[in-house]
This record gives sequence, structure tokens and C-alpha cells, in this order.
Amino acid sequence: MYDFKIEAPDKPSLYRELIEAADALTAGEPDPIANMANVAALLWESLPDINWAGFYRNVDGELVLGPFQGRPACIRIPFGKGVCGAAAASLEPQLVADVHAFPGHIACDAASRAELVVPILVDGVLVGVLDLDSPTPARFDKEDEEGCVILIQRLEGRLGAMEKTVSKG
Ligand code: SME
Repeated sequence: MYDFKIEAPDKPSLYRELIEAADALTAGEPDPIANMANVAALLWESLPDINWAGFYRNVDGELVLGPFQGRPACIRIPFGKGVCGAAAASLEPQLVADVHAFPGHIACDAASRAELVVPILVDGVLVGVLDLDSPTPARFDKEDEEGCVILIQRLEGRLGAMEKTVSKG
């Protein structure tokens, strides 16, 4: 049984503990889907005031829904579309205080107001994005962004790899 109870007094310690727990949960496991599933569950259990936590994977140049916690969500998102698509196209984290003001935002859950999306790069190649949603405007700040960027950097090799082209014959 895994019992990670994260109760930190401030955000930096919350993310420090979260990153340690995520590292421990995924250590030695090569399957990216299993690791994404456990990290989504850990984020969901540990971060207050969120209504969605999960991953989209880069499948042939399109974001496809991966492991998550929260309400059922849109399955496919083109690069450049919405907040996740913007992160995939720019390879930069997207910190959005109010999604209603974000051009092209994709409303999977009408309750979502704030969003944080962090691209996942392996050897400089986009393998997916981490997406966090909250019903509270401006729920995420620079500390959340930094915490999630470090989390992803610590885990990136365990969250995906681009498919290698296999030549037959
Ligand atoms: N709102 C996101 C779509 C994904 S869901 O929030 C889970 C977006 O605009 O990219």
C-alpha cells in the first residue's frame, strides 16, 4: 500500500514533499502510463482546490487524453488550441488566472476557472503535458508553476518517450 499523506505548511514545502513522493512512486517503473496515473492521483490527493489533474500525451502531433483524476474530459486537443494546445505549441508553461479570458479555451468542465499546464519534454521532444484545473480564479501562481516544472523535470524520463521508428525487413 502506498500511503502518502502530504500536509505542508506552505507551498514550497508542499511541492518539495510532493516531488519526493512522486519520485518514490515512479522510481524503477518504466511504464509511462502507470507513472502518469500514479502522479495524477498523487496531485489530486495533495493539492487543495483543484477539480482536474492529469495528462495529455503527444500522439502523432495531437494531444490525446491520458491518465487523470476528475470529470471526464475532451479526448483530443490539436496543438495550438486552448491552454493545453498553447503549452504544446510553445513548449512553455501556461499559467492562466481566468480561463474565460483565454482565447480558444476548451471548456471540458464549466466549473473550471484557473488552469496551469506544463509541457513534458524528453530529450527536447514534447511527449505530453501536465494539466491542472481549479474552480477558483487565480488559484495557481508562480510557486505552483515552479513546483510543477520541477516535478516534471524530476520525472520526465518516466512519463514518456517518443516512439522510435521501427524499420521492418
Ligand atoms: N481546458 C483545457 C482542456 C483540458 S481540460 O481542462 C481537462 C484547455 O483549454 O486546454
